[in-house]
Amino acid sequence: MKRSTASTLLALAPLLAVVRAQQTCNSTSLCGADAPCCSEFGFCSADFCGAGCNPLFSNTVDSCNPIPICEDKTYTFPTLDVIANATTFNGNVSLADWTLDKGDLSLTNENEVAFILTETNGGTRISSTRYVHYGTITATMKTGKWDGVVTAFITMSDVHDEIDWEWPGKASTLEGQSNYFWLGVVNRDSRGSAAHGDKHNITSDASSNYHDYTIDWQEDELRFLIDGQEVRSIKKSDTKDSKTSVFEYPTTPARVQFSLWPAGINGSAQGTIDWSGGNINFQDPDYIAAGHFYALLKSVKVECAKTGAAATKVGDVSYVYGANASGVPTVFSSNESAVSAATAVVVSGMRAIGPLVAAFAIAVSALML
Ligand SMILES: *[C@@H]1O[C@H](CO)[C@@H](O)[C@H](O)[C@H]1NC(C)=O
Ligand SMILES: *[C@@H]1O[C@H](CO)[C@@H](O)[C@H](O)[C@H]1NC(C)=O
Ligand SMILES: *[C@@H]1O[C@H](CO)[C@@H](O)[C@H](O)[C@H]1NC(C)=O
Ligand SMILES: *[C@@H]1O[C@H](CO)[C@@H](O)[C@H](O)[C@H]1NC(C)=O
Ligand SMILES: *[C@@H]1O[C@H](CO)[C@@H](O)[C@H](O)[C@H]1NC(C)=O
Ligand SMILES: *[C@@H]1O[C@H](CO)[C@@H](O)[C@H](O)[C@H]1NC(C)=O
Ligand SMILES: *[C@@H]1O[C@H](CO)[C@@H](O)[C@H](O)[C@H]1NC(C)=O
Repeated sequence: MKRSTASTLLALAPLLAVVRAQQTCNSTSLCGADAPCCSEFGFCSADFCGAGCNPLFSNTVDSCNPIPICEDKTYTFPTLDVIANATTFNGNVSLADWTLDKGDLSLTNENEVAFILTETNGGTRISSTRYVHYGTITATMKTGKWDGVVTAFITMSDVHDEIDWEWPGKASTLEGQSNYFWLGVVNRDSRGSAAHGDKHNITSDASSNYHDYTIDWQEDELRFLIDGQEVRSIKKSDTKDSKTSVFEYPTTPARVQFSLWPAGINGSAQGTIDWSGGNINFQDPDYIAAGHFYALLKSVKVECAKTGAAATKVGDVSYVYGANASGVPTVFSSNESAVSAATAVVVSGMRAIGPLVAAFAIAVSALML
């Protein structure tokens, strides 16, 4: 199925009534000077300048805070303390590796993070506190295995460049799907077709066996790998739009995100429900036994690209956006601190939007409508 910016906004439209008082933002309606920052979900506020703030829809391209720079690291989960509450996180990466944006987590005895999905919590999402501006990201994880339930490992930039690994429904135990978006627009291979993404076989049940899934996102090529084996590659040179001469390829720094979310529920688009394997059965014996559905994350390895557009200067701690060049936002590494002066920052706008919209927005941000 195709996703476009227009359909994303359409999907959110019924929910806008909930937040009538708050100014919305998009490509044609930027935030005003009084509430300069456009949140991930398209709402303006001076409190939304942290992670997820969209520089293209904010008052000016530099309204958003600088965003924390990439670091080579293998992230594990000795405790859940490495995951901060997104609503109070202030951009200080010394305090947390991840933010919990929505939902509930638990830590297993084997130090795996369990993503919890219940009938009422709307799913769970975490985001890296640092951004990756090209790099290789490998996640060792076990997926969900229930129809209507989607496990996702994605990169998402603040201007909606997006690279996805997704496992929708029961069928995904032997099959992962890859996809990517440029400024919120699905790649041309998937455009106009019924495909949500390319499908790739997994050698053993992904819900009960650990596998390594890799997004190898470099300046000139994007590759997807399973257990170190390449299953798909896209050359940037092949993404050029012949009319605009723009490369429709992800180029902007992105957070790494993991989520378990309910696609097969009332309120989802029919195409999304079908794609995810149908409606969720909350009477499933697994759900009854555990009291929730879950997916498990063991570790995440990030290797930052270091050359070309990804090159940084000694002392740089952040990325900042500059004006557009040839229709694509420019990004610079910078020595400006990403830590907000405010003691508590509403990162994404979820607090203001409320749980209903936040749950819906997660679905929108990690799938194709
Ligand atoms: C942007 O938002 C404005 C105001 O809410 C709305 O009128 C307009 O249709 C939106 N534009 C797009 C492209 O969705
Ligand atoms: C970030 O947090 C660390 C650890 O608490 C602290 O030492 C440091 O001063 C903080 N940085 C800023 C800029 O607030
Ligand atoms: C984060 O903290 C806020 C304020 O204390 C709380 O309302 C919210 O439920 C917390 N969010 C999560 C995901 O735990
Ligand atoms: C994936 O598995 C299916 C079912 O076993 C098989 O038909 C198909 O050829 C496999 N695809 C690849 C690319 O190996
Ligand atoms: C979803 O819709 C079906 C059919 O309209 C209805 O029977 C069911 O109660 C709804 N479920 C929820 C959770 O609202
Ligand atoms: C930058 O380019 C994007 C994509 O072409 C466009 O949506 C946006 O409106 C442009 N912004 C500015 C400030 O020119
Ligand atoms: C950032 O770099 C500029 C020049 O490149 C320098 O003048 C400034 O002192 C630096 N700021 C910090 C906080 O290091």
